[in-house]
Amino acid sequence: MRVIKKLAEMQAFADEQRCSKKKIGFVPTMGFLHEGHLSLVDQAKKKCEVVVVSIYVNPTQFALGEDLDRYPRDFKKDLELCEQRGVDIVFAPDNDVMYPSGFETTIHLNKTTSDLEGSSRPSHFDGVATIVTKLFNAVKPHIAFFGQKDFQQSLIVKRLAKNLNFDLKIEVCPIVREKHGLAMSSRNNYLSTGERSAALVLHKAIELAKEMVEQGKIDVAAIEKELNNFVAKEKLAKVEYIALRNRSNLNKIKVLKKGKTVLLLAVRIGKTRLIDNELL
Ligand code: PAF
Repeated sequence: MRVIKKLAEMQAFADEQRCSKKKIGFVPTMGFLHEGHLSLVDQAKKKCEVVVVSIYVNPTQFALGEDLDRYPRDFKKDLELCEQRGVDIVFAPDNDVMYPSGFETTIHLNKTTSDLEGSSRPSHFDGVATIVTKLFNAVKPHIAFFGQKDFQQSLIVKRLAKNLNFDLKIEVCPIVREKHGLAMSSRNNYLSTGERSAALVLHKAIELAKEMVEQGKIDVAAIEKELNNFVAKEKLAKVEYIALRNRSNLNKIKVLKKGKTVLLLAVRIGKTRLIDNELL
Protein backbone atom coordinates (compact mmCIF):
# COMPACT_ATOMS: atom_id res chain seq x y z
CA MET A 1 0.00 0.00 0.00
CA ARG A 2 1.28 3.44 -0.90
CA VAL A 3 0.47 6.72 0.88
CA ILE A 4 0.27 9.72 -1.45
CA LYS A 5 0.20 13.25 -0.09
CA LYS A 6 0.74 15.36 -3.20
CA LEU A 7 -1.89 16.20 -5.80
CA ALA A 8 0.35 15.76 -8.87
CA GLU A 9 1.49 12.34 -7.65
CA MET A 10 -2.10 11.24 -7.10
CA GLN A 11 -3.15 12.42 -10.55
CA ALA A 12 -0.14 10.78 -12.22
CA PHE A 13 -0.97 7.49 -10.49
CA ALA A 14 -4.60 7.76 -11.64
CA ASP A 15 -3.50 8.48 -15.23
CA GLU A 16 -1.23 5.39 -15.23
CA GLN A 17 -4.10 3.17 -14.04
CA ARG A 18 -6.45 4.58 -16.64
CA CYS A 19 -3.84 4.07 -19.40
CA SER A 20 -3.49 0.42 -18.33
CA LYS A 21 -7.31 0.11 -18.47
CA LYS A 22 -7.54 -0.52 -14.72
CA LYS A 23 -10.76 0.49 -13.01
CA ILE A 24 -10.23 2.86 -10.08
CA GLY A 25 -12.58 2.54 -7.09
CA PHE A 26 -12.59 5.46 -4.67
CA VAL A 27 -13.72 5.68 -1.05
CA PRO A 28 -13.56 9.27 0.28
CA THR A 29 -13.34 9.48 4.08
CA MET A 30 -12.40 11.82 6.90
CA GLY A 31 -10.52 8.99 8.62
CA PHE A 32 -11.07 7.37 12.03
CA LEU A 33 -12.19 4.41 9.98
CA HIS A 34 -14.80 1.91 11.14
CA GLU A 35 -16.61 -1.05 9.58
CA GLY A 36 -18.94 1.36 7.73
CA HIS A 37 -15.98 2.77 5.77
CA LEU A 38 -14.39 -0.65 5.41
CA SER A 39 -17.58 -2.11 3.91
CA LEU A 40 -17.19 0.55 1.18
CA VAL A 41 -13.61 -0.61 0.64
CA ASP A 42 -14.82 -4.23 0.34
CA GLN A 43 -17.40 -3.18 -2.23
CA ALA A 44 -14.78 -1.17 -4.14
CA LYS A 45 -12.47 -4.18 -4.18
CA LYS A 46 -15.22 -6.35 -5.63
CA LYS A 47 -15.84 -3.96 -8.50
CA CYS A 48 -12.47 -2.33 -9.26
CA GLU A 49 -8.87 -3.38 -9.88
CA VAL A 50 -7.39 -0.47 -7.89
CA VAL A 51 -8.81 0.96 -4.65
CA VAL A 52 -7.99 4.46 -3.40
CA VAL A 53 -9.12 5.67 0.05
CA SER A 54 -8.78 9.36 0.85
CA ILE A 55 -8.27 10.44 4.44
CA TYR A 56 -8.80 14.14 4.84
CA VAL A 57 -10.72 16.05 7.51
CA ASN A 58 -12.15 18.78 5.32
CA PRO A 59 -12.28 22.08 7.26
CA THR A 60 -14.75 23.79 4.92
CA GLN A 61 -17.59 21.41 5.77
CA PHE A 62 -17.44 22.36 9.47
CA ALA A 63 -19.07 25.60 10.55
CA LEU A 64 -17.53 27.79 13.25
CA GLY A 65 -18.26 26.21 16.64
CA GLU A 66 -18.65 22.69 15.20
CA ASP A 67 -16.31 19.82 16.06
CA LEU A 68 -13.46 20.34 13.54
CA ASP A 69 -10.80 20.58 16.27
CA ARG A 70 -11.99 17.60 18.26
CA TYR A 71 -13.01 15.45 15.27
CA PRO A 72 -11.46 12.04 16.07
CA ARG A 73 -8.25 11.21 14.22
CA ASP A 74 -5.98 8.12 14.26
CA PHE A 75 -3.96 8.09 11.06
CA LYS A 76 -1.70 5.20 12.10
CA LYS A 77 -4.63 2.89 12.88
CA ASP A 78 -6.41 4.01 9.68
CA LEU A 79 -3.35 2.98 7.65
CA GLU A 80 -3.26 -0.42 9.38
CA LEU A 81 -6.96 -1.00 8.63
CA CYS A 82 -6.55 0.05 5.00
CA GLU A 83 -3.55 -2.25 4.60
CA GLN A 84 -5.46 -5.18 6.15
CA ARG A 85 -8.41 -4.60 3.81
CA GLY A 86 -6.22 -4.53 0.70
CA VAL A 87 -6.39 -0.82 -0.16
CA ASP A 88 -3.83 0.13 -2.84
CA ILE A 89 -3.48 3.87 -2.25
CA VAL A 90 -4.25 6.13 0.70
CA PHE A 91 -4.50 9.71 -0.50
CA ALA A 92 -3.89 11.91 2.53
CA PRO A 93 -3.32 15.50 1.43
CA ASP A 94 -2.53 18.33 3.83
CA ASN A 95 -4.68 21.49 3.99
CA ASP A 96 -2.25 23.47 1.82
CA VAL A 97 -2.59 20.84 -0.93
CA MET A 98 -6.39 20.98 -0.96
CA TYR A 99 -6.76 24.69 -0.18
CA PRO A 100 -3.59 26.48 -1.36
CA SER A 101 -3.40 30.23 -0.93
CA GLY A 102 -5.56 31.95 -3.54
CA PHE A 103 -8.25 29.30 -3.29
CA GLU A 104 -11.60 30.97 -3.93
CA THR A 105 -13.98 28.49 -5.54
CA THR A 106 -17.09 26.97 -4.00
CA ILE A 107 -19.41 24.38 -5.50
CA HIS A 108 -22.97 25.11 -4.45
CA LEU A 109 -26.12 23.13 -5.20
CA ASN A 110 -29.24 25.25 -4.95
CA LYS A 111 -32.07 22.94 -4.03
CA THR A 112 -31.12 19.62 -2.48
CA THR A 113 -28.93 21.39 0.08
CA SER A 114 -31.55 23.81 1.36
CA ASP A 115 -33.17 21.91 4.23
CA LEU A 116 -32.72 18.96 6.64
CA GLU A 117 -28.92 18.85 7.16
CA GLY A 118 -28.72 22.07 5.14
CA SER A 119 -30.96 23.94 7.65
CA SER A 120 -29.10 22.65 10.66
CA ARG A 121 -25.67 23.15 9.09
CA PRO A 122 -26.03 25.92 6.45
CA SER A 123 -22.51 25.91 4.94
CA HIS A 124 -21.92 22.17 5.31
CA PHE A 125 -22.87 20.97 1.84
CA ASP A 126 -20.91 23.72 0.07
CA GLY A 127 -17.85 22.34 1.84
CA VAL A 128 -18.77 18.75 0.97
CA ALA A 129 -19.56 19.51 -2.69
CA THR A 130 -16.34 21.48 -3.09
CA ILE A 131 -14.05 18.88 -1.54
CA VAL A 132 -15.73 15.97 -3.31
CA THR A 133 -15.25 17.76 -6.65
CA LYS A 134 -11.58 18.35 -5.83
CA LEU A 135 -11.10 14.74 -4.71
CA PHE A 136 -12.73 13.42 -7.90
CA ASN A 137 -10.31 15.56 -9.94
CA ALA A 138 -7.39 14.23 -7.91
CA VAL A 139 -8.27 10.52 -7.86
CA LYS A 140 -10.07 10.30 -11.24
CA PRO A 141 -12.14 7.29 -10.15
CA HIS A 142 -14.41 5.16 -12.33
CA ILE A 143 -16.66 4.42 -9.34
CA ALA A 144 -16.91 6.39 -6.06
CA PHE A 145 -18.46 4.67 -3.05
CA PHE A 146 -20.52 6.54 -0.46
CA GLY A 147 -22.43 5.31 2.61
CA GLN A 148 -26.21 5.55 2.80
CA LYS A 149 -25.88 6.81 6.36
CA ASP A 150 -25.29 10.30 4.95
CA PHE A 151 -28.36 9.97 2.74
CA GLN A 152 -28.70 13.63 1.77
CA GLN A 153 -24.95 13.81 1.05
CA SER A 154 -25.18 10.79 -1.27
CA LEU A 155 -28.05 12.41 -3.19
CA ILE A 156 -26.10 15.66 -3.46
CA VAL A 157 -22.98 13.88 -4.70
CA LYS A 158 -25.02 12.04 -7.36
CA ARG A 159 -26.52 15.35 -8.54
CA LEU A 160 -23.15 17.07 -8.49
CA ALA A 161 -21.54 14.30 -10.57
CA LYS A 162 -24.38 14.50 -13.10
CA ASN A 163 -24.58 18.31 -13.16
CA LEU A 164 -20.83 18.76 -13.65
CA ASN A 165 -20.48 15.91 -16.19
CA PHE A 166 -18.11 13.80 -14.10
CA ASP A 167 -17.36 10.64 -16.03
CA LEU A 168 -17.88 8.31 -13.08
CA LYS A 169 -20.49 6.24 -11.27
CA ILE A 170 -21.63 6.88 -7.70
CA GLU A 171 -22.47 3.77 -5.74
CA VAL A 172 -24.32 4.12 -2.44
CA CYS A 173 -23.78 1.24 0.01
CA PRO A 174 -26.00 0.16 2.94
CA ILE A 175 -25.64 1.49 6.49
CA VAL A 176 -23.51 -0.71 8.76
CA ARG A 177 -24.88 -0.94 12.30
CA GLU A 178 -23.38 -1.92 15.64
CA LYS A 179 -24.81 -4.98 17.44
CA HIS A 180 -27.80 -3.17 18.97
CA GLY A 181 -28.61 -1.08 15.92
CA LEU A 182 -26.63 2.17 16.31
CA ALA A 183 -25.46 3.27 12.84
CA MET A 184 -21.65 3.28 12.71
CA SER A 185 -20.14 6.76 12.74
CA SER A 186 -16.80 8.25 13.75
CA ARG A 187 -18.81 10.61 16.00
CA ASN A 188 -20.09 7.63 18.08
CA ASN A 189 -16.67 7.95 19.68
CA TYR A 190 -17.92 11.06 21.55
CA LEU A 191 -20.68 9.12 23.35
CA SER A 192 -20.37 8.10 27.02
CA THR A 193 -21.72 4.67 28.03
CA GLY A 194 -25.05 6.19 29.11
CA GLU A 195 -25.30 8.22 25.92
CA ARG A 196 -24.51 5.15 23.82
CA SER A 197 -27.59 3.35 25.14
CA ALA A 198 -29.69 6.54 24.79
CA ALA A 199 -28.51 6.75 21.15
CA LEU A 200 -30.29 3.46 20.40
CA VAL A 201 -33.49 5.53 20.35
CA LEU A 202 -32.75 6.45 16.70
CA HIS A 203 -32.79 2.84 15.61
CA LYS A 204 -35.81 2.09 17.80
CA ALA A 205 -37.66 4.98 16.11
CA ILE A 206 -36.80 3.46 12.73
CA GLU A 207 -38.18 0.10 13.87
CA LEU A 208 -41.36 1.85 15.07
CA ALA A 209 -41.73 3.59 11.69
CA LYS A 210 -41.39 0.24 9.91
CA GLU A 211 -44.14 -1.20 12.15
CA MET A 212 -46.39 1.75 11.31
CA VAL A 213 -45.82 1.16 7.61
CA GLU A 214 -46.65 -2.53 8.06
CA GLN A 215 -49.91 -1.49 9.80
CA GLY A 216 -50.78 0.52 6.69
CA LYS A 217 -50.30 4.01 8.17
CA ILE A 218 -49.66 6.54 5.41
CA ASP A 219 -50.39 9.98 6.94
CA VAL A 220 -46.91 11.53 7.04
CA ALA A 221 -47.72 14.26 9.60
CA ALA A 222 -49.21 11.68 12.00
CA ILE A 223 -46.26 9.29 11.62
CA GLU A 224 -43.73 12.12 12.15
CA LYS A 225 -45.63 13.25 15.25
CA GLU A 226 -45.67 9.75 16.75
CA LEU A 227 -41.95 9.33 16.08
CA ASN A 228 -41.16 12.74 17.62
CA ASN A 229 -43.15 11.79 20.75
CA PHE A 230 -41.37 8.45 20.92
CA VAL A 231 -37.86 9.98 20.74
CA ALA A 232 -38.81 12.77 23.20
CA LYS A 233 -39.34 10.10 25.88
CA GLU A 234 -35.57 9.52 25.90
CA LYS A 235 -34.25 12.13 28.36
CA LEU A 236 -30.82 12.57 26.74
CA ALA A 237 -32.26 12.99 23.25
CA LYS A 238 -33.17 16.27 21.54
CA VAL A 239 -34.72 15.97 18.08
CA GLU A 240 -33.43 18.30 15.34
CA TYR A 241 -35.63 16.76 12.68
CA ILE A 242 -37.56 13.59 11.99
CA ALA A 243 -38.86 13.72 8.44
CA LEU A 244 -40.41 11.48 5.83
CA ARG A 245 -39.46 12.59 2.33
CA ASN A 246 -39.55 11.51 -1.29
CA ARG A 247 -36.40 9.40 -1.48
CA SER A 248 -35.33 10.48 -4.95
CA ASN A 249 -35.41 14.28 -4.47
CA LEU A 250 -36.09 14.83 -0.72
CA ASN A 251 -39.26 16.78 -1.52
CA LYS A 252 -41.85 17.04 1.26
CA ILE A 253 -44.73 14.55 1.03
CA LYS A 254 -48.12 14.25 2.71
CA VAL A 255 -48.75 10.58 2.03
CA LEU A 256 -46.24 7.79 2.51
CA LYS A 257 -45.68 5.74 -0.64
CA LYS A 258 -44.04 2.38 0.01
CA GLY A 259 -40.75 2.03 -1.85
CA LYS A 260 -40.56 5.75 -2.58
CA THR A 261 -40.07 7.23 0.87
CA VAL A 262 -37.09 7.79 3.13
CA LEU A 263 -37.21 8.45 6.87
CA LEU A 264 -34.45 10.86 7.97
CA LEU A 265 -33.51 11.62 11.57
CA ALA A 266 -31.10 14.05 13.23
CA VAL A 267 -31.03 13.81 17.01
CA ARG A 268 -28.68 15.26 19.59
CA ILE A 269 -27.66 12.84 22.31
CA GLY A 270 -26.10 15.12 24.91
CA LYS A 271 -23.67 17.23 22.87
CA THR A 272 -23.32 14.71 20.05
CA ARG A 273 -25.35 15.13 16.89
CA LEU A 274 -26.30 11.82 15.26
CA ILE A 275 -28.06 11.15 11.96
CA ASP A 276 -29.71 8.00 10.67
CA ASN A 277 -32.18 7.01 7.96
CA GLU A 278 -34.18 4.15 6.51
CA LEU A 279 -35.75 3.54 3.12
CA LEU A 280 -39.41 2.74 3.71
O1 PAF B 1 -18.78 11.57 4.40
C1 PAF B 1 -17.66 12.04 4.66
O2 PAF B 1 -16.85 11.44 5.38
C2 PAF B 1 -17.26 13.39 4.08
O3 PAF B 1 -18.37 14.24 4.01
C3 PAF B 1 -16.57 13.28 2.73
C4 PAF B 1 -17.48 12.72 1.66
C5 PAF B 1 -15.33 12.41 2.85
C6 PAF B 1 -16.12 14.67 2.27
O4 PAF B 1 -15.22 15.25 3.17
